[in-house]
Amino acid sequence: MRIIRAKDYSDMSRKAANVLSAQVILKPNSVLGLSTGSSPVGVYRQLVEWYKKGDLDFSSAITVNLDEYCGLAPDAPQSYRCFMNGNLFDHVNVRRENIHIPNGMEADAEKECARYEALLERLSGIDMQLLGIGRNGHIGFNEPGTAFETSTHRVALTESTIAANKHFFEDENDVPRHAYTMGIRSIMQAARILLIASGKEKAQIVKEAFTGAVTPLVPASVLQLHNNVTLVGDEDALSLL
Ligand code: GLP
Repeated sequence: MRIIRAKDYSDMSRKAANVLSAQVILKPNSVLGLSTGSSPVGVYRQLVEWYKKGDLDFSSAITVNLDEYCGLAPDAPQSYRCFMNGNLFDHVNVRRENIHIPNGMEADAEKECARYEALLERLSGIDMQLLGIGRNGHIGFNEPGTAFETSTHRVALTESTIAANKHFFEDENDVPRHAYTMGIRSIMQAARILLIASGKEKAQIVKEAFTGAVTPLVPASVLQLHNNVTLVGDEDALSLL
């Protein structure tokens, strides 16, 4: 695993955006696994800036997002589809038909998960997966206790995840209780993984995930078993490593 130390959030964002851009420049038709949350906002901002300067071209890129809340329509402001449109897709030349996000409005979980898995298979794997890390070690929405073999599935969010994400909603009660997420097995199949972490509140979990035991209780710890992981963290997030 490579660890890249950044000074602060904006430095982390630029460094991670550099890694992602290199991927797109080297392989324009890359399958990019994308994520949401506060962590990647700066990365997307930087990619948009470089795209506008003419340094990046997403016209052949394919994107697959990790997860989506169940029950939120794509145009609901807190849906991950809306997040991705606002932070990246509306500002770059990625083709709409090349954007893939689980459909949170599909009530039939089995059907939606099978559709997403079939899609991942059809794309023959993700070239680079961008990941954040939840305070409890979750990746995507794979909460502690999720078996490492899981493929795309529907999860019940833990109280700590609901609390961590409530600032995106008016009221904690509005946070959906379920989500569709790519499974740990699906994430581990990506050729390269780029995990970003920022802030003191991530320091403890980053330490546990990357230096502790590999256990489903800390989902991100599975990344110790992956052969191409780059962790870009700011000083605060890496302070306990
Ligand atoms: C959410 C997302 C994850 C993300 C995590 C961390 O739960 N489903 O993909 O990594 O939050 O979010 P943040 O970057 O806001 O700390």
